[in-house]
Amino acid sequence: MKMTIRNVNEKEFLKVYKFVSHCKPLENYAEHLYKIILRYFNDTCFIVEQESEIIGFLMGFISQVHESTYFLWQIGISNSMQGKGIGGDLLEHAENKLSERGCKRIEVTIDPKNISSSKLFERMGYINISYKKEKMVKVNGNIAVKDYYSPGKHFMLYEKYL
Ligand SMILES: CC(C)(COP(=O)(O)OP(=O)(O)OC[C@H]1O[C@@H](n2cnc3c(N)ncnc32)[C@H](O)[C@@H]1OP(=O)(O)O)[C@@H](O)C(=O)NCCC(=O)NCCS
Repeated sequence: MKMTIRNVNEKEFLKVYKFVSHCKPLENYAEHLYKIILRYFNDTCFIVEQESEIIGFLMGFISQVHESTYFLWQIGISNSMQGKGIGGDLLEHAENKLSERGCKRIEVTIDPKNISSSKLFERMGYINISYKKEKMVKVNGNIAVKDYYSPGKHFMLYEKYL
């Protein structure tokens, strides 16, 4: 079945919010956060559709502080479509669009317990740079930044130069 990848706009924020709630283990933030992100950063947020249904999404924004850097905030593929390489197609699409906009670097944080996610990003050429931060911790054999998001919430920091 044909898949299309396109930008997602502000009016679709509830559709995206609902999709995320079925996309475990992603955290589902409040509806209004999806509205805000899609209102102000929709040119760097994408969905994958099949027969008008969302089957994947990727959201993030270009930093105003870290030059030419895009922070990839969330990516998710519907449970039944995971493991088929769609995440890689979506990521490649986003990277091409970001490169056209002059972005030179992508940053993403990954939960060290999320094996599918780290496999995807490593296969796509992302490097774990957690060791560059002051406080490091080993989780599941991976280097993560200690307390990155809050005490005890250690995350791995990855980057890719485009
Ligand atoms: C992480 C995610 C975006 C990857 O997208 P994807 O389209 O499934 O990516 P891939 O098909 O390339 O799979 C990546 C790897 O994870 C494995 N994988 C993906 N889904 C899996 C599942 N449900 N069960 C077991 N393994 C799975 C694949 O086999 C593959 O491993 P391999 O490289 O050894 O073959 C997707 O699995 C997902 O949406 N997960 C839930 C949400 C999430 O964790 N998002 C990331 C937060 S940073």
